[in-house]
Amino acid sequence: LSTEEQCYWIRESLKTFPQPPNRTNLTAIYGSISDLLVAAKNQKILVEVENPDVQERNEQNNGGGKTQSKNFKFVDDPEIQKEEECRSTTATTLVRKLRWSTLGLQFDWSKRNYDVSLPHNKIPDALASLAKNMAIPAMPSGEEFKPEAAIVNYYGPSDMLGGHVDDMEVDWTKPIVSISLGCKCIFLLGGKTRDEVPTAMFLRSGDIVLMAGEARECFHGVPRIFTESDQEEISALVSQLSGEDDCFTLDYIKNSRININIRQVY
Ligand code: OGA
Ligand code: MN
Repeated sequence: LSTEEQCYWIRESLKTFPQPPNRTNLTAIYGSISDLLVAAKNQKILVEVENPDVQERNEQNNGGGKTQSKNFKFVDDPEIQKEEECRSTTATTLVRKLRWSTLGLQFDWSKRNYDVSLPHNKIPDALASLAKNMAIPAMPSGEEFKPEAAIVNYYGPSDMLGGHVDDMEVDWTKPIVSISLGCKCIFLLGGKTRDEVPTAMFLRSGDIVLMAGEARECFHGVPRIFTESDQEEISALVSQLSGEDDCFTLDYIKNSRININIRQVY
C-alpha cells in the first residue's frame, strides 16, 4: 500500500471501524461506545451512570437478572469532580485498550465463531474492493473473493497474538487478506501442527499477506512488535500524519501496530 493508503486505513481503523454496530473488546465491558476517537481527541472521560428507566424495571423484577442498570457516557473533565463515586476511564486510555474490532459478520470471540444473529454492516466498499483485488492471485480462476467479515487487531508495545489456525470459515480454499499498518512486527508462520518449527518474517506498514493454499491451514502468530527502537520504519507515516487533526493518530501509531484481516466466511 502507498503511504497515503496506509494513512487512510490507520485513520479508519481508529475512527470508523470501532463504531457500533461493530463490536470491539470494549463492548463487553462498557456496552456500545460511539465516537471514541473524537472523545479521546477532546480529552473526554467515560463515566458510569445510573440508568433510571432500567433501574425501575429491575426493582419491579426483584432486581432480576441481566438488565443493565448502569451505562457509560462521555463527560468533560470538570464534571468528573461531581461524580467522584463513579467508575471512570479517560477516552485516551480506552483507545489504548482497544485490542480488536470486527467488521461485517461479527465474530464472537467467547464462542470463537461467527454469530450471524448479531446486527452488522457490510464491509465498507473501499475495503471490500481492496481485498477483492489483493485476493486475485490466490483465487481459483473466474471466482471472485467475497469479503464478508474482517477482524481488526490493535497491538500496543507489549501485545502479541498466540499461535493459531483460522478455522471458523466454511471454505478454506478462499484466502485471508491481511494488511499490516504502523509499527513492524515479527510474524511466525508454522506448519499444520504445533510441532513444526515456524519461519519468522518481518511485516511492515503497507505489507499485505495472503494466507492461501497450504498456508491457509498453518499455525501462525505475532510474538512481538517493534516501537521506539525502530522509528525510521514509520517515518513516511509520521511526516504524512503531521497535520493538527492527526496528532492523536500519530501519537498512537508511533508505538502501535494495526492488522486488518479480511475473510470470506461462506
Ligand atoms: C488474525 C491474525 C495476524 C497479524 O487476526 O487471525 O492472524 O498480522 N493476524 O496480526
Ligand atoms: Mn490468523
